Amino acid sequence: MTTPLICPSILASDFAKLGEEVRAITEAGADWVHIDVMDGHFVPNITIGPDVVKSLRPHSNLPFDCHLMISPVDAYLEAFKNAGADYISLHPEAGPHLHRSLKYIRQLGAKAGVVLNPATPVDILDWIMDDIDLVLVMSVNPGFGGQSFIDSQLRKIEVIRKKLDAVGHPAILQVDGGVNAQNAHLCVAAGATAMVAGTAVFKGGPSAYAQNIKQLKGL
Ligand code: DX5
Ligand code: ZN
Repeated sequence: MTTPLICPSILASDFAKLGEEVRAITEAGADWVHIDVMDGHFVPNITIGPDVVKSLRPHSNLPFDCHLMISPVDAYLEAFKNAGADYISLHPEAGPHLHRSLKYIRQLGAKAGVVLNPATPVDILDWIMDDIDLVLVMSVNPGFGGQSFIDSQLRKIEVIRKKLDAVGHPAILQVDGGVNAQNAHLCVAAGATAMVAGTAVFKGGPSAYAQNIKQLKGL
């Protein structure tokens, strides 16, 4: 079985020490840094904006994976790219022209991701296959860390894996929400190649991060 990329969600970190936390997960073996951006409108919580991303950029050389849960979204894409985002992912429900938004992310020079909420059908992928570098399957409803994994999303991962493989698509297939050492291997078996994890990485404090990441990788 392939080893998944581990993308710790800094939503579960100590916000008073964000720079330190990003350095700690980088040293602990994380592959990407997952940054959850929430606006209190598209989702019922408010978190991080581009200025914080910019301040964090010097603290790690890992790819920054910005998961935008904001609406409208288009007007902020350039700011996140300029702040240092490598991957920018958005929800189809966040704007009127998904195809245009994805094209724009790539034009800016970032990798483009599309995020499917638990109830969002997979067909949305059919006409944007050439415009995505990443598909993110939400295994919780977006807005908060610490929720329970929704099992039905394993079937969705399987369906998307088939869709991608049918055309030899190289997109990363990422899962986000309630991922832990107990279900990570099920996500990988279903075809996921990257795991976002907040609670499961940051539990126990900095001295536990390396072991937590190792367990998620199934090592
Ligand atoms: C939810 C976020 C997730 C979440 C992950 O809206 O997109 O990244 O914070 O946290 P855990 O792993 O605690 O579910
Ligand atoms: Zn996320």
